[in-house]
Amino acid sequence: MDSSSTAIHASVLHCLADPDVCGSEAIQYIPEGTLLIADGHIVDCGTRESVSVPRHAEIMHLEDKLLLPGFIDTHVHYPQVDIIASYGSQLLEWLERYTFPAESRFHDIEHASDTAGFFLDELLRNGTTTALVFGTVHPESVDAFFDAALSRQLRMICGKVMMNRHAPTELLDTAESSRHDSQALIDRWHGRERLGYAVTPRFAPTSTPEQLTLAGALLDDNPGVHLHTHMAENADECDWVHSLFPQAEDYLAVYEQFDLVRRRSVFAHAVHLPGNAWKRLAAAEAAVAHCPCSNLFIGSGLFDLRSAQKHGVKLGLGTDIGGGDSFSLLRVVNEAYKVQQLQRHTLTAEYALYLATLGGARALDLDAHIGNFEPGKEADFIVIDERSTPLMTRRMTNEPDWRNRLFTLFMLGDDRSVQQTWIMGKPAHTRQP
Ligand code: GUN
Ligand code: ZN
Repeated sequence: MDSSSTAIHASVLHCLADPDVCGSEAIQYIPEGTLLIADGHIVDCGTRESVSVPRHAEIMHLEDKLLLPGFIDTHVHYPQVDIIASYGSQLLEWLERYTFPAESRFHDIEHASDTAGFFLDELLRNGTTTALVFGTVHPESVDAFFDAALSRQLRMICGKVMMNRHAPTELLDTAESSRHDSQALIDRWHGRERLGYAVTPRFAPTSTPEQLTLAGALLDDNPGVHLHTHMAENADECDWVHSLFPQAEDYLAVYEQFDLVRRRSVFAHAVHLPGNAWKRLAAAEAAVAHCPCSNLFIGSGLFDLRSAQKHGVKLGLGTDIGGGDSFSLLRVVNEAYKVQQLQRHTLTAEYALYLATLGGARALDLDAHIGNFEPGKEADFIVIDERSTPLMTRRMTNEPDWRNRLFTLFMLGDDRSVQQTWIMGKPAHTRQP
């Protein structure tokens, strides 16, 4: 085991709790701080005077930089990298026109490996250290993804899409083959190093009731795996779901009917849900991935963050690449802020930081391992340059309030603000000047 320690002197900012519930006590900002790491984990985090640094430790002086926990992307599709920023469609047409053709290539393991490597390096460039990721219907797509994540020592969750109707033939599995292939992938990958598996029915319209039943059986048979799907993203999609499942009172009820709404279930979008759905999601300890870049880019709608927050629903942020148009969680927060502005609700910088870090970790049930700088957690974090562009330098200068600087970072920052990304206590990405 590598027992060498590293002490980084820098400003440090992280969440100890949900600022919406615990107020200002939830956030720790240490302007002259020290982060001490050893064996890939956090040993201590505090003021320079309070952290006792071992004599043999390597010391890094990053006093003009800000350390944040790595960002967590709670909903993203790695096979959609090549269709990011595709013009002119909303969800159902966008799937037919761009998504399904792109996903059809992932039976080819070389294409899958190449795309997975590019995707993971792009996450690191943007400061994202953990993600909940869609593969395609092909089991090979998940093998390629996990291989690439393993070689980078990343904490990642992925799953094979289950989809047995309403898509091109070459992208369909069957209820039985999807159960068999998912189980084989779980046996091969789940719990290996920092990898986890998500049972991944695409969304209600592309699975028969039989397949959704088997998705529930997979969850029963494999405690600890996640459920990852889409829900109530677009108005036409919701009408379609109503015509396919007329007996269900709403979209969430379809998933409830198949016992898919549980702890470790993550539903992307939830833009068009009736008011009483929030209570049911919270009671089930299920999570929602809010994806504002995608909701705006493919014109899906405005997420009701206030209701989700009020009911205590677990929430994270997602890029939803390729429906979303940026890998950067900073850009996602920028759009999340505007989506709330349009609804006369103000997203604070502190709550945005929570959503991008500890909130995302809680949404993925990974907060025992990641999400902040508590001793014992995995040392996945980022080094932020608050002055990464001339405009940011100008705006940050003479701004003494860290909350205003954090807000400015969210509004003006992007991959250029991420100077380094550290994985398990080692630099995995360094931005070239
Ligand atoms: N709903 C079903 N499939 C998809 C997808 O690939 N992307 C998004 N954004 N929504 C979906
Ligand atoms: Zn999606």
